[in-house]
Amino acid sequence: MTDTATEPGNTKPWFPADFLWGAATSAYQIEGSPLADGAGPSIWHHFTHTPGQTTDGDTGDIACDHYHCYADDVALMRLLGLQAYRFSVSWSRVLPEGRGRVNAKGLAFYDRLVDELLAAGIQPAATLYHWDLPAALDHLGGWLNPDIAHWFADYAEAMFRALDDRVQLWMTLNEPWVICDAGYLHGVHAPGHKSVFDPVLASRNLMRAHGEAVCRYRTIGNHRIGIAINLEPKYPASNREADLAATQRADAYMNRQFLDPIFLGNYPDEFRDIFAEGWFDLTADDAQLIRQPIDFLGINYYSRGVTRDDPSALPPGTISVRQSDAPHTDLGWEIFPQGLTDVLTWIKDRYGNVPIYITENGAAYNDPAPTNGAVDDPDRVAYYRGHLLAVLEAIRKGVDVRGYFAWSLLDNLEWAYGFSKRFGLIHVDFATQARTLKSSAHFYGDVIRSNGACLNT
Ligand code: FCB
Repeated sequence: MTDTATEPGNTKPWFPADFLWGAATSAYQIEGSPLADGAGPSIWHHFTHTPGQTTDGDTGDIACDHYHCYADDVALMRLLGLQAYRFSVSWSRVLPEGRGRVNAKGLAFYDRLVDELLAAGIQPAATLYHWDLPAALDHLGGWLNPDIAHWFADYAEAMFRALDDRVQLWMTLNEPWVICDAGYLHGVHAPGHKSVFDPVLASRNLMRAHGEAVCRYRTIGNHRIGIAINLEPKYPASNREADLAATQRADAYMNRQFLDPIFLGNYPDEFRDIFAEGWFDLTADDAQLIRQPIDFLGINYYSRGVTRDDPSALPPGTISVRQSDAPHTDLGWEIFPQGLTDVLTWIKDRYGNVPIYITENGAAYNDPAPTNGAVDDPDRVAYYRGHLLAVLEAIRKGVDVRGYFAWSLLDNLEWAYGFSKRFGLIHVDFATQARTLKSSAHFYGDVIRSNGACLNT
């Protein structure tokens, strides 16, 4: 890339000229109307309707009502100056049973959304799976059933055929680590399994599904496909040997679990320790399937982990130690922008200079209610500023970062936390569906318009 950011000696916070500025959301968190127009239920629909699973019993039944308000939301994106918008497709809207029959009305929603985005000059970036598995497939074992690789690839193919003429950036999966850890190990996300065996199986099948969808894309797609992985650099809590080893295990579990098989064709050695008898080796066929070349890597970054050995903790036998003197967001996540530079340079060193998009980054804060059409959220502005400068630092170190998607465009259903945690650039009043731009939205608009130059001040 030729740009001022990578020229030695240049200290101005400029981003590459073709840097892509966007914001992200996901289907279940914003759309509402989960059963409208012939859609089938997803595991998140069932999970949120199970008493006790979400804060205040919140569900995605209405959420931001984006299913109906999408055109107004696109108009707000345009007002912000967004160049790209990362959304996810609800699999069970398009295929109510997860496989077989396509629901034309469900597909038509994404068709309309994509057209609306393009008409506003905003590039659509589609994620095929952001956690809302069709319930019908969960009844067949969901991510534990090896056949899911074919089901997912068939669904992916239907989406490629419908939208690849207009969508140029595709992501197969969002955060497979959270799916395994929260959904199959701790049971705090759908489908709510608590098992030390299921995460290994789910992880393997997620990767096989990813590989098969990428293969399918190569036969019919004409643009770019990648995956969005959440990374959290791990630092040892002390120099004790046990903590150093624990840090390696935590790093393997969270950061290398998906990247090693995709880029290197194998799993980190630590997995035999981490899952003991639950672990099984990769077959040569699966290794080949998973190691499909991808066009870019999406990185979701929020925080770091300071790691201590704890044999009583579930795999990987580690805990993250809270840094009491450090700042934290409302979710209790430590604010550590340096970690973003660290993971980006680590990727380059370990896997090569793969094109990267930051596909999520942002912060939850307990924002004040709108007053006179404004919401002041200085902490979120500071969070974005710090992390954008951290991205710039990585670019200066030669990492090929192509774009950045703020999480999130709108306040939305933050999974098991329901509506109690707000991540939006835009405030949503969930009773009236009124949208109000926060200070962070105005700040981000300035960043986009100046291509980062305003970070200088
Ligand atoms: C990520 C998820 C996203 C949102 C943010 C806060 O793990 O991908 O949906 O919940 O965290």
